Amino acid sequence: MTQIAIVYHSGFGHTDVLAADVARGVEEAGAHPALLRIEAGQTDFDAFFAAIAESDAIIFGSPTYMGNVSAPMKAFMDASAAVYFTRQWKDKLGAAFTVSGSPSGDKLNTLTSLAIFAAQHGMLWISTGQNPGNNDDTSAATDIENRLGSFIGAMAQAANDSPEVTPKAGDRATARSLGARVARAAARWRRGADAPLPEAALVG
Ligand SMILES: Cc1cc2nc3c(=O)[nH]c(=O)nc-3n(C[C@H](O)[C@H](O)[C@H](O)COP(=O)(O)O)c2cc1C
Repeated sequence: MTQIAIVYHSGFGHTDVLAADVARGVEEAGAHPALLRIEAGQTDFDAFFAAIAESDAIIFGSPTYMGNVSAPMKAFMDASAAVYFTRQWKDKLGAAFTVSGSPSGDKLNTLTSLAIFAAQHGMLWISTGQNPGNNDDTSAATDIENRLGSFIGAMAQAANDSPEVTPKAGDRATARSLGARVARAAARWRRGADAPLPEAALVG
């Protein structure tokens, strides 16, 4: 069965909500989500690396703190140098989601950091694949998918309200769609890996 690792950190519960939505999307697309929650101060990621080794894709989730990934997520990223040199994640699919308090909040920088991180590991990036959801007069609506108009990854906005109130329905649906999209892409990627390729395609 296709397995999708969801590696994420949440300081105050909002990214937890999104991670659960991403996992739901993965399940709806027929794959197994492996939820790997980074705890503050965590330094041992061996169990994470073992689960990722069994996964076809990794979806990274981080709140945006000070315009970038949170410190616990960065600790995980730096610890992954252990598997970087042996190219263990090469050709796995990658994607990301983030949440911040402001509509922008500089969260594009968080997603860019995660995309570069995946590229350093030789991974293949999956975008949201969605049209921008809010380019008309309904711009105040919060129940529209991809209302924040992000393509590199799923964005959510959570103000300072509790995780029971935010992220809003549209942002949660965007996360769910990303999970399903990555799971479907991973299933296709797996199926393709089983098919014989012409010899020239195997070089490199
Ligand atoms: C240390 C810290 C830094 C933050 N930096 C930003 C920021 O740069 N931009 C922003 O819009 N919100 C910022 N926020 C708000 C969080 O992104 C927002 O509350 C988010 O929902 C937190 O997710 P979590 O509950 O999963 O931790 C920050 C919050 C904290 C605690």
